[in-house]
Amino acid sequence: MRVLSGTQPSGDYLHIGNYFGALRQYVAFQEEHEALYFIADYHSMNSVRNASQRREFARSVALDYLACGIDPERAVLFRQSDAPEVCEFMWLLSTVTPMGLLERGHAYKDKVAQGQSADHGLFAYPVLMAADILLYHADVVPVGQDQKQHLEMTRDIAARFNHTYGEDVLKLPEPYILDAVAVVPGTDGRKMSKSYDNGIAMFAPKSQIKKAVMGIVTDSTPVEAPKEPKGALFELWSLFASNDEREELFARARKGGLGYGEVKKDLLARLLDFFAPMRLRREELAAHLDDVEDILEDGARRARLLGEPVLAAAREAAGLGRAL
Ligand code: TRP
Repeated sequence: MRVLSGTQPSGDYLHIGNYFGALRQYVAFQEEHEALYFIADYHSMNSVRNASQRREFARSVALDYLACGIDPERAVLFRQSDAPEVCEFMWLLSTVTPMGLLERGHAYKDKVAQGQSADHGLFAYPVLMAADILLYHADVVPVGQDQKQHLEMTRDIAARFNHTYGEDVLKLPEPYILDAVAVVPGTDGRKMSKSYDNGIAMFAPKSQIKKAVMGIVTDSTPVEAPKEPKGALFELWSLFASNDEREELFARARKGGLGYGEVKKDLLARLLDFFAPMRLRREELAAHLDDVEDILEDGARRARLLGEPVLAAAREAAGLGRAL
């Protein structure tokens, strides 16, 4: 089974929602499956307009991934633009993508409403995403709920291409919607998300992490009062505790006498502790960026070996270029 997923480099450190909601599962996939993970820098062109920033942001995602355990010996980790065939392939797919399909896309409308400029690239984004997936014959694409519609579009586009030029040219991928249980609450109690600005970044300076943790919203129940151990703070804390520890803390909360401040301090300590080895690894990698570039280069080489035959078959089916 071949698993594939992509991450847009937006400049922020990944937050613990990204880790527990996705990255940790990507690491697990690489143990059992063929895994491809890429840094979607072509996609980032819709929002990031500064060249040196883009390079830096893409490298930051690579560092986060490697620090968290993506192993380049197992998984293929690459930068999207190092395998530029995807752009040619996108054109082939564009010609069988109905306008109506893209017009129904909610991401475009949402992003324009949030102030992104209404460019063709943003509108056509789902076609590039389909190309990302179909070029590598991915079987399974693990994504969050918000990307489900893009996966449906991908299947639709693949089916249309196959219907037009020959069944079996492209493989229809299955979505794998990452566990809803793994949805991590943000500091304001809503889902942790970059767009809500309620994240706790794993590798931000410690002072910043502290500020975020101390700022987790709680109600105003006084320390002595019994508390129902629910809400963002207790959920976040539970990510870093064993079942026994959780039972114990929850019992104390229900009994009264446990203040939110104490839970926050303990959460901060546990969180820093949990990510400490990864933070260290990230620092080591950041001191050897040439090695990181070599990893990405090798990843792109391996990705292209997988993508080139698919593109060749699609070109052949569509009657492009000299016949094979
Ligand atoms: N659209 C995805 C996101 O914003 C990123 C992405 C681009 C992706 N291409 C992909 C995810 C292909 C999975 C497969 O999160």
